Amino acid sequence: MINKCLFPAAGYGTRFLPATKATPKEMLPVLTKPLIQYGVEEALEAGISTMAIVTGRGKRAIEDHFDISYELEHQIKGTSKEPLLDEIRSLINQCTFSYTRQTEMKGLGHAILTGETLIGKESFAVVLADDLCTPAGYTEGILSQMVAIYEKYQCSIIAIEEVSPENTDKYGIIAGHLIDNTDDIYRVTDMVEKPSPQEAPTNLAIIGRYILTPDIFDILRMTQPGKGGEIQLTDALLEQAKQRKVIAYRFKGTRFDCGSVNGFVEATNYFFKKGEK
Ligand code: UTP
Repeated sequence: MINKCLFPAAGYGTRFLPATKATPKEMLPVLTKPLIQYGVEEALEAGISTMAIVTGRGKRAIEDHFDISYELEHQIKGTSKEPLLDEIRSLINQCTFSYTRQTEMKGLGHAILTGETLIGKESFAVVLADDLCTPAGYTEGILSQMVAIYEKYQCSIIAIEEVSPENTDKYGIIAGHLIDNTDDIYRVTDMVEKPSPQEAPTNLAIIGRYILTPDIFDILRMTQPGKGGEIQLTDALLEQAKQRKVIAYRFKGTRFDCGSVNGFVEATNYFFKKGEK
């Protein structure tokens, strides 16, 4: 069983400046809903109700979003606008939220290690809210699909998708052996952070959904800063793949890279056409 989902949300979001100067990137809305709310909904759909969020300076809006706003509720009670808060209210009722702060932004691996205090010694899911995922025609969300795979393999699972070869330098890229044709499941043998197209072993890119076993924390503690001087989750996962087993899963559905302006616009158009407000 996976009970907890960690949201590393302490990054500066420099690609969205100046919007992200005083507003967390995770709070940018696709239509009327902030990115992180889509992530929480996906986790809840996967049967996870404990949300652990790693924040940083200037991210208070995330905590306020997942809390009751008494003044606002009082103002709109009994008016036609009251139903606009139904979805978020229902999430607040069904989930618990806990927070810790990353005081120095030393990379995704470091953010996950900062979250150890909220997770403890159990396997957990990770959602990077700027990767907005939707099943798009499939019945189950991506995290749900990954939880089912975890139940079978009992090891860390990373979500991957094919990217065009010239874009490998934007992602962690894996190499591996296909171990289950029907489900597109690979046993990982290599992993490189943002390789140039010439250096990339494949075009299978890691996206922002993971299930991690808790030994990742000890590995992260030993991981030295890698590419960009940051503590890279990819380096720790490669070590875990060498020590035991890491599975990469080519998920069913669509991902929008909402950490980039182009991906954000694509997601907005997609959800608008779909008729979601
Ligand atoms: P990104 O690489 O997208 O970095 O982080 P960023 O700071 O959010 O955005 P840009 O590149 O400057 O525009 C991937 C994920 O890891 C988190 C981010 O919040 C995002 O969810 N992260 C990254 C942290 O929590 N802490 C860090 O030190 C770095």
